[in-house]
Amino acid sequence: MSAVKSLDGPQSVELFFNPKSVAIIGASAKQKKIGYVIAKNFIESFKGKFFLVNPTLQEILTHKTYPSVKSIKEDVDLVVIAVPAKLVPRVLEECGEKGVGAAVIITSGFNEVGGEGTKLLEEILEISKKHSIRLMGPNCMGVFNTSSMVDTLFIPRYRLKRAPQGKIAFISQSGASGIAFLDWAAGERIGISKFASYGNASDVDEADLLEFLAADKETKVIAMYLEGVKEGRKFAKIAKEATKTKPVLVLKSGATYSGSKAALSHTGSLSGSDKIFDAVVKQTGMIRVYDWEEMFDIARVLAYQPAAKGNKVAVITNGGGAGVMIADEIEHHGMKLAEIEEKAMPELKEKFPPHVTLRNPLDLAGDADNERYQIAIKSALDSEAVDSLLLVCIPHTPGIDLESFVDMVVDASSKSKKPLVVCLPGGRISFGIRELFEENGIPTYPTPMRAALSLAALVKYGSLKNNDLDTKS
Ligand code: ACO
Repeated sequence: MSAVKSLDGPQSVELFFNPKSVAIIGASAKQKKIGYVIAKNFIESFKGKFFLVNPTLQEILTHKTYPSVKSIKEDVDLVVIAVPAKLVPRVLEECGEKGVGAAVIITSGFNEVGGEGTKLLEEILEISKKHSIRLMGPNCMGVFNTSSMVDTLFIPRYRLKRAPQGKIAFISQSGASGIAFLDWAAGERIGISKFASYGNASDVDEADLLEFLAADKETKVIAMYLEGVKEGRKFAKIAKEATKTKPVLVLKSGATYSGSKAALSHTGSLSGSDKIFDAVVKQTGMIRVYDWEEMFDIARVLAYQPAAKGNKVAVITNGGGAGVMIADEIEHHGMKLAEIEEKAMPELKEKFPPHVTLRNPLDLAGDADNERYQIAIKSALDSEAVDSLLLVCIPHTPGIDLESFVDMVVDASSKSKKPLVVCLPGGRISFGIRELFEENGIPTYPTPMRAALSLAALVKYGSLKNNDLDTKS
């Protein structure tokens, strides 16, 4: 019998992320099968015990297989089910008899297709209730936890490199949205704490996962992709509590007639009124985003930089055009350019050449070197008139020593409590430098718009933390 089976609430959701033992039902030896990829994930990296279940094989990748979950002598906390829909009720009944606590059902073909599928869903819900098994899915990708290495994602690792351990949790009704986010994170070496794709939300839903992640010490930011909300009141209540502990980003699709029809056939979700959802977002203190890129950009800034105390931004650049664009974006996103304090002027005048005009955005000019940046950064971060710093660097100019530039900015940021983001435009030359910044916890963006939007999220989160809800867009 599973040790934690009888618990409700966030503790029972814990079983999906931190099981001691897992059985993969429908494990296969055929490389193109979903059951093969999942089995391989567990073989390669799961930190607990796992059992491969397949009635026709003796072994998979040299690991013993079991003909059924009931033939496993040891306790099984979690099962991952990847057999065709019509077999799921029988398999789940066996899991119930075995005393399994939780099941991720990868299989599609339930209420999202209607008819027989809806009847099958009713059947498995009844079985799960009878045996107190928590269900994730059906029609989902399931769970990825970078600490326990539960990994039920059926995308081979050579196609989706797994993201490193980090502070962002991502929950997604859609598998594809989840994959896009994880691939991005892996590519940019942004750390993930936990991931769940929960498909049709037949039992464990967005509110259950949100409640669990709000209490999770490894998670600093929660990002969610939703197509519908199963129980509006429950979700709003939990979201309001969750935002008291950490930022919650939400991307909700199905806003239009066409989008809501697509959501219904994708995960069987009812999208509901977008206006009502928007009101819930505002009342609960979540931050709404509208695209994968926006979600990814904002999630990482919230994970690695502190909330801003106010909306006054210092901009330092070595490119005038970028400075002008940033100035526009700052205003578009409800922030203000900070004044350079009078008391800072004499030192800046003395240390900078006459062609550097002392105003914000502070354009250090095309011949700026690291030292000029260092003086400007220190002055901005020390200034009482500045709440955050947006640093632009055009990396192509000859005066910048790129590697020590990263060290210098990281050092300055580590000595300050103010948020700092970098805009580093350009192609090949910029990739490695952006990566170095990211690895050191400085969110770095290729365009002024993305950098300003992300900084604005820190300002917004700062104001939400001060219970100043709804005052900024
Ligand atoms: N116990 C254990 N294993 C069993 C059992 C059983 N009772 N019965 C059969 N099996 C084995 C089979 O023998 C087979 O193993 P084999 O490869 O050695 O023959 C394995 O389980 C799988 O069964 P198949 O009949 O071969 O099924 P298949 O792998 O073709 O399909 C699947 C199963 C993948 C679950 C399919 O039905 C399905 O649902 N596919 C879609 C999945 C999906 O897209 N999910 C949602 C994604 S996320 C989103 O965007 C919402």
